[in-house]
Amino acid sequence: MPVTTCVFDAYGTLFDVAAAARVAAEQPGQEELARVWPKLAADWRTKQLQYTWLRAVTGDHVSFWEVTKDGLDWAMEASGLDDPVLRETLLALYWELPAYKEVPAMLATLKAEGFLTAILSNGSPDMLAGAVDFAGVELWLDAVLSVEDVQVFKPARRVYDMVHNRFGTQPEQVLFVSSNGWDAAAASAYGFQTAWVNRAGEPMDRLPAKPQHILPDLTTIPELAKSL
Ligand code: LAC
Repeated sequence: MPVTTCVFDAYGTLFDVAAAARVAAEQPGQEELARVWPKLAADWRTKQLQYTWLRAVTGDHVSFWEVTKDGLDWAMEASGLDDPVLRETLLALYWELPAYKEVPAMLATLKAEGFLTAILSNGSPDMLAGAVDFAGVELWLDAVLSVEDVQVFKPARRVYDMVHNRFGTQPEQVLFVSSNGWDAAAASAYGFQTAWVNRAGEPMDRLPAKPQHILPDLTTIPELAKSL
């Protein structure tokens, strides 16, 4: 069955999550942050994701906004940053993360080729609406699906079920695209066709299933979708 539907992870895949710390570090008076922002950004993301997995395992769901704040608090303490104003600045920037530069043209091409397109994300609906609006890509998205509807984070299967529930697709009709190796691996195990966007050249996650395609960025997603 050919692919009819391209589904994208949001944070790290369409939107650059490191941008919040990077942009804040460029602001006047942020010399301390300018020194540590790469560590802060990495710790923030790592803790945010760890908290999603732990909460999924224990059934203790809160919104992605809550784990985003908790992850930042851990990361700021780890970098010795005790600054409530900076905390608010970083959190505000998380609502205006830039899309990677190839995103608008890639989505526009998919729509012109007749594919259905969607975001499937841990993000809460208001966070995703903010990011989609800021990036100006709502025109090319048929759906923005948030795990809030199923009250559990990825990689719970109930999250990937949301695609069938919205579009009526069989798993093999879906190309699922994520920059998170673990998300792409889980989507492969679920039965989606998958592409892992490995911008950082990371090693493959040692998990039961592997992503089927590995790409350096999103540019060739329309070509890949047409070939499947
Ligand atoms: C998401 C996270 C995993 O958007 O990046 O779902």
